[in-house]
Amino acid sequence: MSKILITGATGNIGFELIGFLSKLESPKNSVAGVRDIDRAKAKFHKYSDLEYTHFDFTNPETFDNALNGIEKVFLLRPPNIANVDKYFKPFITKIKENKVNKIVFLSVQGVEKSKVIPHHKIEQLIINNKLDYVFIRPSYFMQNLTTTLLPDIQNNREIILPSGNAKFNWVDIKNIAEATAILLNQFDHYKNQIVEITGLENKSFESVTSIINSIVTHPIKYRNVSPFHFYRIKKQQGLPRGMIIVMLLLHYLPRFQKEPKISSSYKKLTGKNPTDLKTFVEREKVLLDK
Ligand SMILES: NC(=O)c1ccc[n+]([C@@H]2O[C@H](COP(=O)([O-])OP(=O)(O)OC[C@H]3O[C@@H](n4cnc5c(N)ncnc54)[C@H](OP(=O)(O)O)[C@@H]3O)[C@@H](O)[C@H]2O)c1
Repeated sequence: MSKILITGATGNIGFELIGFLSKLESPKNSVAGVRDIDRAKAKFHKYSDLEYTHFDFTNPETFDNALNGIEKVFLLRPPNIANVDKYFKPFITKIKENKVNKIVFLSVQGVEKSKVIPHHKIEQLIINNKLDYVFIRPSYFMQNLTTTLLPDIQNNREIILPSGNAKFNWVDIKNIAEATAILLNQFDHYKNQIVEITGLENKSFESVTSIINSIVTHPIKYRNVSPFHFYRIKKQQGLPRGMIIVMLLLHYLPRFQKEPKISSSYKKLTGKNPTDLKTFVEREKVLLDK
């Protein structure tokens, strides 16, 4: 029994993780825990041996079946689920009851500084339940440029944020997923460790905009706005309130914090340097130039 249940499998990290895991483990060992199996099968059509199980954080009736025959769990907090007591506590209790005991949780860099963010509470739940764990704490995803920030880039050729000159550490999701696959595969070696996965560059949005403009044909601007103005713009664009608040916290608070730490964990795990921003923008040029 060496099966790994992968939550958030159809998302940004999960999709890449399944790809990297398929190179390290027998593809039959990965079980994608998903809400819609047919949609997931279409997404993972390349991975014919991948197994699927119905799993929904909001439906505890799916937990026992999803954990049946599982040795390790990759746990990801979907951005739309913030209530830890309501959704994560019952799942982590079930993990314990099912004697799974090996959990790799995708947390976030700096989690130790804030007791209010869900990831902090989830880490504590895992520790309090005496599960063996690896906490992966990545920095700011480069892919925010090609997901949440993309509509403003494509439609208005701008990035609008309340970030001032704050510097973010930029990391490629592919690097996070590759490191995660290794940590899952060699869990016993890394158990009960905290692993920060970062890129090598701490850069402001102004600097990142310059990098983008050195590569794309249609330049973009960085528009720094007040948190209030940001809230109004995003509300007018129809974003849900909860999502605007999360974006505000993620992009405004770093103005008052120290620059992020740069970690060597990715290099130690893979022997390679993490992706740099220029390489990422060149890779995603078509999307960013539309
Ligand atoms: N953005 C950043 O810079 C950053 C930095 C550090 C850490 N993080 C953390 O990274 C995580 C997000 O990772 P991501 O970008 O890979 O997420 P994502 O692309 O938004 O994917 C979310 C996944 O969760 C699944 N999901 C949603 N609701 C579910 C439910 N009720 N039950 C079961 N599955 C459900 C989705 O499945 P469906 O296909 O069914 O919707 C999808 O597979 C968050 O915890 C975030 O805080 C983000």
